[in-house]
Amino acid sequence: DKVKQTHRTGYHFQPPKNWINDPNGPLYYKGLYHLFYQYNPKGAVWGNIVWAHSVSKDLINWESLEPAIYPSKWFDNYGCWSGSATILPNGEPVIFYTGIVDENNRQIQNYAVPANSSDPYLREWVKPDDNPIVYPDPSVNASAFRDPTTAWRVDGHWRILIGSKKRDRGIAYLYRSLDFKKWSKAKHPLHSVQGTGMWECPDFFPVSLSSEDGLDTSVGGSNVRHVLKVSLDLTRYEYYTIGTYDEKKDRYYPDEALVDGWAGLRYDYGNFYASKTFFDPSTNRRILWGWANESDSVQQDRNKGWAGIQLIPRRVWLDPSGKQLLQWPVAELEKLRSHNVQLRNQKLHQGYHVEVKGITAAQADVDVTFSFPSLDKAEPFDPKWAKLDALDVCAQKGSKAQGGLGPFGLLTLASEKLEEFTPVFFRVFKAADEHKVLLCSDARSSSLGVGLYKPPFAGFVDVDLTDKKLTLRSLIDHSVVESFGAGGRTVITSRVYPIIAVFDKAHLFVFNNGSETVTVETLNAWSMKVPVMNVPVKS
Ligand code: FRU
Repeated sequence: DKVKQTHRTGYHFQPPKNWINDPNGPLYYKGLYHLFYQYNPKGAVWGNIVWAHSVSKDLINWESLEPAIYPSKWFDNYGCWSGSATILPNGEPVIFYTGIVDENNRQIQNYAVPANSSDPYLREWVKPDDNPIVYPDPSVNASAFRDPTTAWRVDGHWRILIGSKKRDRGIAYLYRSLDFKKWSKAKHPLHSVQGTGMWECPDFFPVSLSSEDGLDTSVGGSNVRHVLKVSLDLTRYEYYTIGTYDEKKDRYYPDEALVDGWAGLRYDYGNFYASKTFFDPSTNRRILWGWANESDSVQQDRNKGWAGIQLIPRRVWLDPSGKQLLQWPVAELEKLRSHNVQLRNQKLHQGYHVEVKGITAAQADVDVTFSFPSLDKAEPFDPKWAKLDALDVCAQKGSKAQGGLGPFGLLTLASEKLEEFTPVFFRVFKAADEHKVLLCSDARSSSLGVGLYKPPFAGFVDVDLTDKKLTLRSLIDHSVVESFGAGGRTVITSRVYPIIAVFDKAHLFVFNNGSETVTVETLNAWSMKVPVMNVPVKS
């Protein structure tokens, strides 16, 4: 079974073959980043789940180790599902994960510790005999009770969350412990929302009000806000809120202005799921990892011999407005930049598309600043759209229909004659008393292939337009385009499978289909090198 390479990524995290899903238990230990992830050792579809294990010095070059956690005990014989790592005050890591105990997917929470904590590779993990740490009590839906978080500590008591649901109410159950071994359920869940269904992979962490630095998960006090993120099985999207964590009552209150659940804030308006953050004490960052599944058919996955990638890790911090998070690819990614081309003061009149030549457009990093003389030509924002998802507005307006201020942006993974292209673009609208900026990553024109999922992903960008500029960075990598609008205010990931626009037949353009002339003030594009990607550690 040869792995077919056409749509494999060049610099995104992938094992050499087989199915992957959620990132698990990311942690930094003795100079190495560890990434575990849900992995099927036997094939390119979901099943036989173990925790595969990779290590890196820079979050970009990865070496692989043997799976760290795999079914071996009565309490995880049917699968080792997602979970998190906690670094204890003595510096040693502990992993919490969900064990599947029977064919009905009954779920239980377990822990594992390093067999030898002086090994920076943390090669071998043991599951002590006092497992499991948490059983589903009779009030809990035992087949929807999983994905423990990193633990945090308040007044000497540890806490974790476990994702769940009761009928269609999504729930983050709270458990407490004094000794990290005996865990008891708090009377109230930390938070729950009616009608949102199963909360997978909850994540709960503090963000600083005064700095872009990340914080250890246990940091509290008056200089922080808290973020609660859940992955909604019903929509297959993730939502987060920013709010106040009352440490005394052990309750979380999302800010009133924010929508809780569907239609809430998103890390990413595209293909991004089961994400998890961790605190990196070596650089004081909080880093976010997310998984992107395939958007082609299961049969294609089998033919390819692989399915799923981890997206480029992102630094996350609180926007000074306090209303959203900001995200940016970790700076280490820039080590892969090689050949660079630039555009400067390139005017784009209506209908123009200008090629960015001289880089490997199928494997590139592009960073561009657009400017425009005024906002006068912004199209009116139809009040009916306020009720729609941004995606539906993108579906109606697209990249081809002429606009006023926009659509303008990039045509990524484009064939020379534009039979195929994935446009990533802005369209600016004028609502009653404000401008609305839409960022789209529209896969509908991405491929002539059949049987593909090609959605027009989109999100609004809450950005100040007084300087009449919009920036866009896109990470293009064969079958993935990760785009960061306005400095990471709105992020969208698309998976696409061009047939013509592959390898050196892929092109990159800037374009404008709006009546207002737009200027590419500066554009930098780089060919991206291939990092060490999951080559086994030499023993
Ligand atoms: C999310 C998820 C988790 C579960 C894991 C199983 O993608 O369904 O809830 O622990 O994947 O692989």
